[in-house]
Amino acid sequence: MKINFTSALNRLPKTVIIPLWKSENTQEILQQISQTYQAPDSFSSTQWAGEEKDSLTVFAGDRVLYLVGLGKAKDQNTIATSLRSCVYKNKKSFSSTVGLDLHFANAQKKYDADKLLAAGVNGILLGRYSNNLYKTDKPRKSGFLAASAKIAIFTDAKGAKAKKSVEQAVILSEAQLRVFDLVNKPANKKIPATLVAHARSNAKSAGYKLTVFSGNAAVKKGFHALHAVGQASPNPSAMIVMDYKPKNAPITVALVGKGVTFDTGGVSLKPSSNMHLMKSDMGGAAAVLGAMEVIAKMKLPVRVVGVVASAENNIGSTAIKPGDIINSYSGKTIEVLNTDAEGRLVLADGLAYAKKAYKPDIMIDLATLTGSIVRAIGKPAAGLFTKNDELSQQLYNAGLKSGERLWPMPMWDEYADEMKSDIADIKNLASSPNAGSITAAKFLEVFTDKHPKWAHLDIAGQAMNENEFSNQANATGFGVHLLVAFVKALS
Ligand code: BES
Ligand code: ZN
Ligand code: ZN
Repeated sequence: MKINFTSALNRLPKTVIIPLWKSENTQEILQQISQTYQAPDSFSSTQWAGEEKDSLTVFAGDRVLYLVGLGKAKDQNTIATSLRSCVYKNKKSFSSTVGLDLHFANAQKKYDADKLLAAGVNGILLGRYSNNLYKTDKPRKSGFLAASAKIAIFTDAKGAKAKKSVEQAVILSEAQLRVFDLVNKPANKKIPATLVAHARSNAKSAGYKLTVFSGNAAVKKGFHALHAVGQASPNPSAMIVMDYKPKNAPITVALVGKGVTFDTGGVSLKPSSNMHLMKSDMGGAAAVLGAMEVIAKMKLPVRVVGVVASAENNIGSTAIKPGDIINSYSGKTIEVLNTDAEGRLVLADGLAYAKKAYKPDIMIDLATLTGSIVRAIGKPAAGLFTKNDELSQQLYNAGLKSGERLWPMPMWDEYADEMKSDIADIKNLASSPNAGSITAAKFLEVFTDKHPKWAHLDIAGQAMNENEFSNQANATGFGVHLLVAFVKALS
């Protein structure tokens, strides 16, 4: 999409979006807007206060202004979501070029002008998305939904830095949009090979190296736990390895994602209500795929290795059964007491491989791992599990910046006692139903081989959610921006 800066108000198009924070002098600002755009007098005396996501439509001559409240937002996601919401609701009546007037928000001096610019562009681009992949009567792509649509920006942020903010916002948004589609796809349209194809197309466009161990090649490589999860599926499992390696990178970060393209629970079958949501059990993988794309396209100066462990957890006569003992890449044997605790099995191989093959300085995995984390802390934050205080702080801060919140969970070794098996090295189900998200994290810890800087993010409550952008639960892209913000802060 073409995005231009404009320095003259009269060059702004018929549709203009004007974000504003909630403040004491909103009335004054409304008067200025009214004068600037020659809006009717009555408008500036409205009670509109700039509350978060509260928008106000104003007809000013032949222009339509959309005032978007930002409330007290201090993170990229909240700002972007406010704009996305306005665009999502009103896009059909937008002109083909949409103006984004940031002057008034900039004058409020509540946030960095370049960051506001990036969040604004991000929100507008995401607002064009509708979750209608398989509709046969999609609305015609005209006006602002046409491929030729444009954004004209009127802002104080100028020069190379502003241009870069916009470029980076476009890179981020495009990756997020692709992740939305990938996560929203159902299981008959998405198998491990679909994640491979996504990585392959990114490898080309973003410029990273791709290696795939699929089917027999995965078994040969020793990914026995990954293979066990997918063994009842006709669709071969895959370990997808992406390597973005800029010159002279001082450190290596490994990102490992759970890519279960559908989780039936296996023989420990899930109840049927809400089982359809398990098409999003590759949300961790999607975050890694999206982040790899963005990090490589932004050419961030850190080596980042993405590992996606992908399988379909199916039922069938060849499926693993409760009590089965399986092997793993690490060499450790696992007693599978519940086939629905499959995420930790695929991650066991992903983590062990990332550690052994790349010796990363930092290792982070993302997974829609447990229902337990949702019962513990709900949907406003994902679970953050690490013994490394510095990494905890770094990830927590990245979450505040992107607006994808993380909350630290305990990792005391006592929790690991529940994972001891009599017959094998470890079991995949805790002895008690308590603290399920923590015992899951303690299971994973074993396969990190005592990595000193590893964190696990349980995003079961975030990958797919109900929100104002769809009638049903749909993909959020959670984790993409978070990981990018984290890696950016390292460089
Ligand atoms: N994919 C699920 C976790 C999940 C639940 C993700 C709800 C998103 C929303 C995972 O594989 C699973 O089934 N976990 C079990 C583990 C249990 C059997 C120890 C769970 O959380 O119930
Ligand atoms: Zn499961
Ligand atoms: Zn699962």
